[in-house]
Amino acid sequence: MGAFLTDQQIADYHRDGFLVLPDFAKPSACVALKAQAEKILHNFDPDANRSVFTTNEQSRHADQQFIDSATGIICFFEEEAFDDTGTLKQSKELSINKIGHAMHDLDPVFESFTYTPELAAVASDLGMPDALALQTMYICKQPRIGGEVSCHQDATFLYSDPITVTGFWFAIEDATLENGCLWAAPGGHKTTLRKKFVRNEANDGATFEVLDDSPLPAAPTELVPLEVKAGTLVVLHGLLPHWSDVNRSEKSRHAYSLHCISESAEYPEWNWLQRNSELPLRRLDKVAVSL
Ligand code: FE2
Repeated sequence: MGAFLTDQQIADYHRDGFLVLPDFAKPSACVALKAQAEKILHNFDPDANRSVFTTNEQSRHADQQFIDSATGIICFFEEEAFDDTGTLKQSKELSINKIGHAMHDLDPVFESFTYTPELAAVASDLGMPDALALQTMYICKQPRIGGEVSCHQDATFLYSDPITVTGFWFAIEDATLENGCLWAAPGGHKTTLRKKFVRNEANDGATFEVLDDSPLPAAPTELVPLEVKAGTLVVLHGLLPHWSDVNRSEKSRHAYSLHCISESAEYPEWNWLQRNSELPLRRLDKVAVSL
């Protein structure tokens, strides 16, 4: 028995590479986080920023704004947000794909949702008592235009030696087959890392480097859908292949995702996400750490 999880839950996580914990976050906490995210969207100036989050793995790359979001709060548009003339097809609040990547250290509402004894206990029970809160994303998956996120392993984007990255994905709204819920490959974390996302020499972007070209499992046959209610926490092993479909429904699919690595692992400088001394990383128990 762990501090928070049962032995069975811990065994399930190590067997499957993911763990679903319904009712982890209180409804009031989800409502507060959603309201704060909507405030950020409302205050965002769409004319000053045209960064699009490209969800297609083949064309995905990082630009300067993406790199800068490691230490900021940046809004990224859905790929289908603009018409042929470059005009937003709907309100800016319904055009943003996600907000990233340092809300947990810059925004008090996100901070109190993230740094909780319960979450620190879950991480510890799964083998990471020294979890560093590396990045956060508030993912809107907008009605009708919410983009697909192609099958990937999170360790591609946040590499450490040994690989320790773990995703904590919170459903802020119900996630269903219709609005693009997560899909995962049970046991798929027991395979190799296929590629890594490496900063370029100019340090103004990042691109993929293939490590193993064997294909990732494909939906729907090799992946199972994780339809969950608001408040559910899904923990994802960093090598677990996972995917989410486009949202063509009339409902948004808001989710909040946090990625942690172990403080004791080596975190290479070629990772796209780098903090600076002004914004040190903190463990889930809030102890500040400089890498
Ligand atoms: Fe992911």
